Amino acid sequence: MIETPLTSHFGCRIPVIAAPMFIVSTTQLVIEASKAGGIGSIPSLNYKTHSAFCEALEEISHTLTEPYSINLIAHRTNPRFEKDLQACLDFKVPLLITSLGSPKMAVEKAHKKNMRVYSDVINDKYAFKSIEAGVDGLIAVTAGAGGHAGTHSPYSFIPELVRKYKTSVVSAGALSTGSSLLSALALGASGASMGTRFIASQEANAEEKYKKAVVDSDVDDLFLTPRISGIPANVIRTKETAHLETPMGLKEKLYFWLKFNKNAGLMKKFQKALRPDQGWKNTWSAGESVSGIKSILPAAEIMTQIYEEYKVALEKLPKA
Ligand SMILES: Cc1cc2nc3c(=O)[nH]c(=O)nc-3n(C[C@H](O)[C@H](O)[C@H](O)COP(=O)(O)O)c2cc1C
Repeated sequence: MIETPLTSHFGCRIPVIAAPMFIVSTTQLVIEASKAGGIGSIPSLNYKTHSAFCEALEEISHTLTEPYSINLIAHRTNPRFEKDLQACLDFKVPLLITSLGSPKMAVEKAHKKNMRVYSDVINDKYAFKSIEAGVDGLIAVTAGAGGHAGTHSPYSFIPELVRKYKTSVVSAGALSTGSSLLSALALGASGASMGTRFIASQEANAEEKYKKAVVDSDVDDLFLTPRISGIPANVIRTKETAHLETPMGLKEKLYFWLKFNKNAGLMKKFQKALRPDQGWKNTWSAGESVSGIKSILPAAEIMTQIYEEYKVALEKLPKA
């Protein structure tokens, strides 16, 4: 048991969230990560329909006595947000992780049911807004993260958030080992949210070539590109990704401007026609934590390994 605000909020043993990953997280991954002492999580949108999501919630909540988490995309472009939130309330999901939008509605409703909400933040502006909305904790997504990465270093961002908001702050980005968990706790974090580490798990919904690429890659094999979604994301360099390392053309820039601009007015109708060909297809996202990933293992073994590595790293620290 590693005692931190995260483990005491949820009554788990290991302060590690198997981070929510679009497409990659699975029901089984959530169950195994939570059973092993961490907190498994999954985006509600990994289920194609709201009713498929409800069925999964039924399975997870009936299988687990341990805590688990659902990730809700709180952005106005997610038409399922309110319905999926209601299902989470009905099943009393222990932890809601909101991303890409305001956590306000989730917080107001979840607190009435004694449920907790943490929100993903990449800078102090969003952290402040989340704290104002009443979240129970922050997930600080930093530079080097898989998926949409932040830009701040954890060395500065984590202590700053802890000092300013005196809340539970989970570090996300570039963490995949017990020693990196230890370093996050040393900065004042209450835990680590690890995504890339769990891509290389047996339960992940990723093709074997993708899992193997995570194991075989080093930090230099990754690059940051805004060309997939308009928001900079870390991906593994492959034969198919060369074009993503070149600057955006005018058409693409206009597409993303229309995508993110609420006030685009009539121009909005051109958005679809401008849509670039590249999407996530044939593109493997991963974070700089690939450097610490050497094997594809069952999720439960990964959790246990992180815990064991943590104890060794703690023992090895130079004494003052
Ligand atoms: C393939 C992939 C998909 C992701 N999808 C989501 C998502 O749907 N929602 C979300 O909040 N974060 C998503 N993330 C970000 C993770 O939840 C987490 O913040 C990140 O993986 C942490 O960095 P790490 O990969 O270096 O551990 C994704 C990350 C990856 C690698």
